Amino acid sequence: MAILVTGGCGFIGSHTVVELLNAGKDVIVIDNLDNSSEKSLERVKEITGKDVTFYKLDIRDREGLEKLFTDRKDIEGCIHFAGKKAVGESVAFPWEYYENNIGGTLTLIDVMRKHGVKNLIFSSSSTVYGDPDSVPVTEESPVKKCTNPYGSTKAMQETILTDIQHADSEWNIVLLRYFNPIGAHKSGKIGEDPNGIPNNLMPYITQVAVGKLEYLRVFGDDYPTPDGTGIRDYIHVVDLARGHVLALKKFNEKGGVFTYNLGTGKGSSVLEVVNSFIEATGVNIPYRIMERRPGDIAENWSDASKAERELGFKAEYDLKDMCADSWNWQKNNPDGYKTIS
Ligand code: NAD
Ligand code: UFG
Repeated sequence: MAILVTGGCGFIGSHTVVELLNAGKDVIVIDNLDNSSEKSLERVKEITGKDVTFYKLDIRDREGLEKLFTDRKDIEGCIHFAGKKAVGESVAFPWEYYENNIGGTLTLIDVMRKHGVKNLIFSSSSTVYGDPDSVPVTEESPVKKCTNPYGSTKAMQETILTDIQHADSEWNIVLLRYFNPIGAHKSGKIGEDPNGIPNNLMPYITQVAVGKLEYLRVFGDDYPTPDGTGIRDYIHVVDLARGHVLALKKFNEKGGVFTYNLGTGKGSSVLEVVNSFIEATGVNIPYRIMERRPGDIAENWSDASKAERELGFKAEYDLKDMCADSWNWQKNNPDGYKTIS
């Protein structure tokens, strides 16, 4: 039996494909390459020594999906990463975000159910907790109104998938709410490859370290946190990827919606990340304190105990590992996959 991975050329997808192959799974990747490169899968093959079947396919392409599911009767379930994910871009282009993320998911699950494949793991986000009343957040913490269209697409997709499962109890739906994935595979062969100037903290830091950007802008030092900077739950992308392999066991359930936080259960401030990076790599990161970034919250980290109890998931890597591995990827591939021939 095979696992279909949508968005498998991307950052989290490519790391998950490595872990799936290492676990002996047959993997089919589909991706429209909107925010990734097929070269990531070549690197996955170098790391694992195993083959991955790849189709350049958009999840909104109903005919293409029909053909895939008709040709490949061995698909037992899907890990669904495909989607647009840039918060700022979603504010400027909400239609594109709703159409791609919601429209794509609706088409994908319609074709899946027509072919009797009713197992799905969905990439959700801690963004669904909005600005939490208290931390750490558990899976029972309220889902709040999101401050941007990207976040709204995640909350809406959770609702859609839950309603569909309630109407057809054969579905196993696993909603994985990721905290902040950073780091890269130990080999330095795959990693995060953002287009243009990065929005997120770790890729920004590594581009300062490699000399592409002059200094880090720390967005606010007046939050009600110990050092005044924002606190998040950073999780190594390889740990996150392993969480997906563990979640596959839910495909053997007799139907249900299963929601898990995937985090470490530990919060770190922006300055703690900067200091860990300097310690782990020996590379200095100049920074300047700036105004708060609109829409940011003071702190969010996970209660990760449900995933440990029910899936046996526990993050192994610490912040220093994450920094060292992010740097290893960036320094070996300063332009990401762009200049790899
Ligand atoms: P990514 O952009 O690297 O990967 C997403 C992949 O989906 C890309 O390869 C892109 O080309 C592909 N894609 C987009 N639209 C598609 C479509 N219509 N058809 C086929 N392929 C399509 O992002 P990532 O960081 O690997 O994130 C993976 C998933 O996890 C996304 O759904 C994202 O929203 C979610 N997530 C990410 C984070 C994070 O911080 N990285 C946090 C929480 C949730
Ligand atoms: N930050 C800076 N400077 C930067 C970038 C970020 O100081 O250049 C700070 C932010 O203010 C925040 C922290 O670093 O305090 C983390 O910011 P990120 O942009 O890396 O991550 P966010 O928590 O804001 O959001 C990210 C994704 C969301 C996702 C969320 C949880 O952008 O889509 O992680 O997974 F929902």
